Amino acid sequence: MKKLGFIGLGIMGEMMAKRLLNNGFELVIYNRTKDKISKLDVSGFTIANSPSEVAKNCDVVISMLADSRAVEEVVFGTNGIFASIREGLIHIDMSTISPATTKKLYNEYKSHKSYFIHAPVLGSKTQAGDGTLLIFAGGDKEAIEKCEEIFKVLGKRLWIFDSVEKATNLKLAMNSMIATMIIALSQAFVLAEKSGISKETVLEVLENSALNSAMYQSKGKTIIDGNFAPNFYVKHILKDINLALETGQDLKVPLPILSAIRELYVSAISKGYENEDYSAVYKVIVEFAGLKI
Ligand SMILES: NC(=O)c1ccc[n+]([C@@H]2O[C@H](COP(=O)([O-])OP(=O)(O)OC[C@H]3O[C@@H](n4cnc5c(N)ncnc54)[C@H](OP(=O)(O)O)[C@@H]3O)[C@@H](O)[C@H]2O)c1
Repeated sequence: MKKLGFIGLGIMGEMMAKRLLNNGFELVIYNRTKDKISKLDVSGFTIANSPSEVAKNCDVVISMLADSRAVEEVVFGTNGIFASIREGLIHIDMSTISPATTKKLYNEYKSHKSYFIHAPVLGSKTQAGDGTLLIFAGGDKEAIEKCEEIFKVLGKRLWIFDSVEKATNLKLAMNSMIATMIIALSQAFVLAEKSGISKETVLEVLENSALNSAMYQSKGKTIIDGNFAPNFYVKHILKDINLALETGQDLKVPLPILSAIRELYVSAISKGYENEDYSAVYKVIVEFAGLKI
């Protein structure tokens, strides 16, 4: 199974597609904005004009798209995957989307004797590029097992679940931590700074404490550099917070911290940071404290 379809060359998709191409896979690629495909600096792929053309030419199709709406459009829209649906086709979606959407897609594919796997990932573009993503795959075991070679190239660990929603919800649980941790770090930075203590000192203390995390160190350094170039957009973390809150409501799990910090991300978007890295929420906390960035 060396020929794969790949749909969605955003921040993550570009790195994942390159990783697959550099590891012996042949790809048939579709991206809504076509010129992003021609900019790929690797060989071994052909360009498709629609998701339907991708599915027609490949038995396994991977998608890495912005949100639930994008995935539904790619599957059910004009010239979508469903225009070429057939028995045995496997669609692996690796985006972070809603549990309701993953369940709907699973059932729709099933009714065509084909497979939908939801396999969201933890890790960003660096991990996507070097194949060290953490992958949570939910769906039919026989389909997931057929795709293990793909997961081995993209990730350093794979967790398999017997339903798509379990994989989706684990991803939302992890992203609720990402959303919370960056606020915790930003608050500590601002509190220290207003007392005349540098952010570097805060990071140094963290590094020597049980509170430390790789995320605090890497994001802490980019915040210190004033570098908010996107690895993971503010708009996407807000999407994931909203999905986690909806899921919390469905499962009757109160998420009081996530509800409160959601407003900081809404504020980041209202200030125009939507296409910056999610760590740009630090600037909102700085401004609340009456400091200048
Ligand atoms: N960035 C990260 O660190 C990270 C980590 C883990 C998971 N994720 C999740 O992975 C997914 C992709 O993230 P990303 O950072 O790569 O996002 P991104 O850079 O915004 O890429 C989004 C992709 O979706 C396509 N797209 C959007 N709307 C579409 C539509 N209606 N129809 C067809 N294609 C559409 C875009 O096409 P165009 O090029 O035409 O705009 C682009 O290829 C998201 O669900 C995100 O939450 C991201």
